[in-house]
Amino acid sequence: MKKLVVLASGRGSNFQAVIDALARGNIPAECSGLVTDNPSAYAISRAERAGIPVYVVDFSSFPSKEEYEREMQSVLLNLSADLYILAGYMRIVDTATVRAFAGKMINIHPALLPSFPGLHAQHQALSYGVKVSGCTVHFVDEGMDSGPVILQGCVPVFEEDNEETLAERILAQEHRCLPEAIRLFCEGRLIIDGRRVHILPGNGGPHDYGVSG
Ligand code: GRF
Repeated sequence: MKKLVVLASGRGSNFQAVIDALARGNIPAECSGLVTDNPSAYAISRAERAGIPVYVVDFSSFPSKEEYEREMQSVLLNLSADLYILAGYMRIVDTATVRAFAGKMINIHPALLPSFPGLHAQHQALSYGVKVSGCTVHFVDEGMDSGPVILQGCVPVFEEDNEETLAERILAQEHRCLPEAIRLFCEGRLIIDGRRVHILPGNGGPHDYGVSG
């Protein structure tokens, strides 16, 4: 059984999608902790309901960003997970932490990277005028939403969309792609090769994973 640790800062609907996939037995893993920087994150209630231990590293209680980052890294190391999942974790992970968990930390981003990295990805997509958008699950590297792509899911962008309607459509894809990427990782099927992530065939053949919407 692989050990997963999820980092989330708020609502935690992606975290819930992971909890549900684990409960259905879709992922050969167990979740050994939720780590949050926000003591009032709704994700905490989701963890408690699922019996998952919660570790709060309250950003606002540290005198400096560096001290927060040191404590966060030490909490993550102590949990010694096979995979660390940024699921709506709203802080940039510092370089030392990224290096400590290279190849073992993934993120979900609400746009088709490399388009629209950073904050307000749905707003960026609408302002640019793209006709499709989606989500990307990728390994975390030292850049901003720039690591090797594992899976992406697409959605159409409609004329009448606003940030909320687009975000909601993308979120449905996030809830599919994130657990799927975690499953592939836990099955040992992801090989990082420079910028590319090769997905090894599974029992169901070379394309037995969900990719597009
Ligand atoms: C998601 O859109 C995720 O891609 C982004 O922040 C949002 C978090 O949503 N990074 P939730 O907390 O998982 O509901």
